[in-house]
Amino acid sequence: MRIALGADHAGFPGKEKLVAHLRQKGHRVVDVGTSSDESVDYPDFARLVADRVARGDCRRGVLVCGTGIGMAIAANKVRGVRAAAAWSPETARLAAEHNDANVLCLSGRLFSDRQRFAMLDAWLSTPFGGGRHARRVRKIVAMEKK
Ligand code: RB5
Repeated sequence: MRIALGADHAGFPGKEKLVAHLRQKGHRVVDVGTSSDESVDYPDFARLVADRVARGDCRRGVLVCGTGIGMAIAANKVRGVRAAAAWSPETARLAAEHNDANVLCLSGRLFSDRQRFAMLDAWLSTPFGGGRHARRVRKIVAMEKK
């Protein structure tokens, strides 16, 4: 799968590990930065990843900042993006199964690399549940058209 990854300075070390993890699993990774610990603004990277997912250049996106929250708020401003900030493998799995989340936002400060790998793997390996969940996601999509 082609996956876009982005981070701010707080998420940079974690993002580097996630890039390697995904490449090792055979995914094609588009790394939009940042590429150092130097302070940057998370909305800039949320936008780069969200735009790629929204236009279909990448099927999924992953964003890492201090908490994952700022990235999710910013990415969700882009039409077609459903970004979820996960805090456990179970919430990551449910973000895929119930919400059809196409962007996963993770904390670079509150979790270990292993915990982030577990959340990412749970999200990527879970299909959307469809059915009643599809009806609810359609209602979210309808909100974008107003
Ligand atoms: C940066 O210090 C921090 O505010 C940012 O990474 C993120 O946690 C925002 O939601």
